[in-house]
Amino acid sequence: MSTENMAGALNKNELTVLSAISKAPAYVSEIMLRTTLNRDTIFNCARRLMDRNLVRITADAKVVYSLTELGKKYLKTGLPEKMLIEYLGKKKSTEYAELAALNLNQGELSAAIGFLKKAGVIAVSNGKFSLIKNSANGIYTKDVVLSEIYKNGYSSAADRDIDDLIRRKIVEKVENVNEKIEITALGIAALKDNDTERTMVDKLTPDSIKNWKNLIFREYSLDTVPPIPISGRKHIVKKFVSDIQDAMVAMGFAEMKSDYAESGFWNFDVMMFRQDHPDRDIQDTVYIGGEKADVDKTLRSKVKEVYEHGFSNDKTDTSIGYGTEFDEEKSRVLIMRGHTTATTFRYIDKYISKNKETPAKYFSVSKVFRNETPDATHTPEFYQIEGIVYGDGLNVSHLIGYIKEFYRRIGIDKIRLKPTYNPYTEPSLEIQAFNTKLNRWVEVGNSGVFRPETLAPFGITKHIVAWGFGLDRMLALQMLGLRDIREIYAPFSDIDLLRNIESARLYGWLE
Ligand code: PHE
Repeated sequence: MSTENMAGALNKNELTVLSAISKAPAYVSEIMLRTTLNRDTIFNCARRLMDRNLVRITADAKVVYSLTELGKKYLKTGLPEKMLIEYLGKKKSTEYAELAALNLNQGELSAAIGFLKKAGVIAVSNGKFSLIKNSANGIYTKDVVLSEIYKNGYSSAADRDIDDLIRRKIVEKVENVNEKIEITALGIAALKDNDTERTMVDKLTPDSIKNWKNLIFREYSLDTVPPIPISGRKHIVKKFVSDIQDAMVAMGFAEMKSDYAESGFWNFDVMMFRQDHPDRDIQDTVYIGGEKADVDKTLRSKVKEVYEHGFSNDKTDTSIGYGTEFDEEKSRVLIMRGHTTATTFRYIDKYISKNKETPAKYFSVSKVFRNETPDATHTPEFYQIEGIVYGDGLNVSHLIGYIKEFYRRIGIDKIRLKPTYNPYTEPSLEIQAFNTKLNRWVEVGNSGVFRPETLAPFGITKHIVAWGFGLDRMLALQMLGLRDIREIYAPFSDIDLLRNIESARLYGWLE
């Protein structure tokens, strides 16, 4: 489409505005009277026409009038003097008392009588009123003024008439800036040239797209600023993730990160999961095909040794192992990380085992994957949060202390712990919180002290305490009180819900 084509092409509204001002410049309010367009449409058209030099817009302070409450009343009934003329017109003469039928107050009535007497329209004799003339100069004009002002905010009447209405508190003056729109020589030419058959299209519709060859489209303007929604915000899960990052960093923990694709070794073997553990089933774990052989040979043989025969250290710890053969192929198989504890063990290898004298606190908040069909309480990928502490003399009391402090920082105060089982921790503690909305204890996490068997291959003899949990479910079902975890994820999510969830609600579940 050539721009040459565009210069002359006008859409229907632009054409209407241009023709409305073709003879004389006009204010937007005047164009409103001459067309059926509203103020915004006229103004937008004028702006576009101005960009193409077809019109000039000048801003100019112009007086605008409006009706007072009294004015609005008279707009319906007519002015009191007009009501009086019409009433008296029906009879020869009228007693003052009868005029009560006009429903005017004392002030309005005497002003109208005084005015009409002075103008020689009515006469009073022996307390009776009669009409001399059928009309009075200016009275009917003023009625028109009221309706003009009501509709357009201005009137063509003489200033004297308007001033009189202002003095009587029927009309008031409102100062206003008005845009006067004037056609340019180019505009006149464009109006002449305009081929109305080929007016410009400014909306894309299925029809206009199909028929694009025959149409002229309005140029896409990069200067137009679209309305910016003020409701944009972080998704609630992201918000919770960053709140947790803040809480952990404030407690002196450093963040751990590792790849989503992981080997069986780091996801299971290193934690002494039995190689026939049900978690490794295809029903639970996402196998992605291929292998990842990134484990140091010495480390793998140490894990294999502990797995098969157990270990003993210089303390009193000894164990006998599983007594079955360790399958190295299962170690290499590539899967999607099923828990962030895989990341934890990579950090134990990379940092803690290399700096055994240095106490360490690490955390992760990251995605994990399970081969699960989505339903109200499960999604195949979700966030897990995990924290570990390494140092001298750590025991379960420290673990409980860290857990309580962590949950307190995310707004959960009432915590209790219950013994449970994990292949890689001993003791293992399930974390429960009291949910006042559900009025019962709910599971919110899992924790423990890493078994010496899992740390022996790294030569670590000190304790590591750790806890972890799935974040999305706890957030959706327990903290937000939703019934379906998918309510916070598309396509089930309700955009208003996501926009309006406040942190008060997020952290309010325990009151
Ligand atoms: N990895 C465990 C899970 O998936 C959580 C956990 C982390 C438990 C650390 C104990 C210690 O639920």
